[in-house]
Amino acid sequence: MTNIILLGPPGAGKGTQARRLVEERGMVQLSTGDMLREARTSGTEMGKKVAEVMDRGDLVTDEIVIGLIEERLAGNHGSGFIFDGFPRTLAQADALGALLGRTGRQLDAVIEMRVDDEALVDRITGRFTCGQCGEVYHDKTQPTAKEGVCDVCGSTDLRRRADDNEESLRQRLMEYYKKTSPLIGYYYALGDLFTVDGLAPIEDVAAAIDGVLKQAEAGRG
Ligand code: AP5
Repeated sequence: MTNIILLGPPGAGKGTQARRLVEERGMVQLSTGDMLREARTSGTEMGKKVAEVMDRGDLVTDEIVIGLIEERLAGNHGSGFIFDGFPRTLAQADALGALLGRTGRQLDAVIEMRVDDEALVDRITGRFTCGQCGEVYHDKTQPTAKEGVCDVCGSTDLRRRADDNEESLRQRLMEYYKKTSPLIGYYYALGDLFTVDGLAPIEDVAAAIDGVLKQAEAGRG
C-alpha cells in the first residue's frame, strides 16, 4: 500500500493526476475540496458557511477538514491513499501524521507539483468538470471530443466551479503561499519530498509521478 500527498497551488494539476492514479493503480483519492463541495450542497448551516469560505478563496477550518479525512481513513484504502489538497496547513500536516501513525500506516511520498503562477490563471479560468463522473477538462488544453458531452460517461452536465474566477484565484494563491507552501520545507525536513514539473504536458507529469512512486516503493523495500 502506497500513500502519497499531491501538493501544489490551485490549478497545479493535482486532481487531474489523482484521477489517473485511481484508474491506473486502484488508489483511493481523498480530495478535501471534493468533500467540501459535497458538504456545501447539503443545505445545512455548516454547508452554507463552507460555501461562503470557499467562494471567497479562503481556507475552511482545520477542525472540519481533519474530521473529514479521519472519517475516510477508516474506509476503503484500495492500493493506497492519494491526499489531494490536504494537508494545507502545518496543523493539518501534524494531524495527518498522527492519524496515519495511529492506524499503522505510513506516508511514502509528498509530491510537490511545481508550476508558474502565470499559468494558473489560464488553467483555472479554462477549467470545467463533469458533474456526473468528475472528469476534469480545459477549454484549450483538454477539451471534450464532442462539445458539451463528457468523453468518459456521456453526460451533458458540464460545470464550472464558483471559485474558478480571477478574484477568488488570487485569494486562493495568497492562502497557498501564506499557509500551505511552508509544508514544502516541512516535508523536505522529514525526507518525504519529491518535486515534479507541473508545467509539463499531462502525460509527462504522469510519467514523472510514476517515477517517484517507483522510487518511493523501492526505498521502502
Ligand atoms: P480544491 O478543490 O482542493 O482546489 P485547489 O487546491 O484550489 O486545486 P484545484 O482543484 O483548483 O486544482 P488542481 O491542482 O486539482 O488542478 P486540476 O487538476 O483541476 O479546494 C477548493 C477550496 O476548498 C479551497 O480554496 C478551500 O476553500 C477549500 N479546501 C479544500 N481543501 C482544504 C483544506 N485541506 N483545508 C482548508 N480548506 C480546504 O487542473 C486545473 C486545470 O488545468 C484543468 O482544466 C486541467 O485540465 C488543466 N491541467 C492539469 N494539468 C495540466 C497540464 N500538465 N498541462 C496543461 N493543463 C493541465
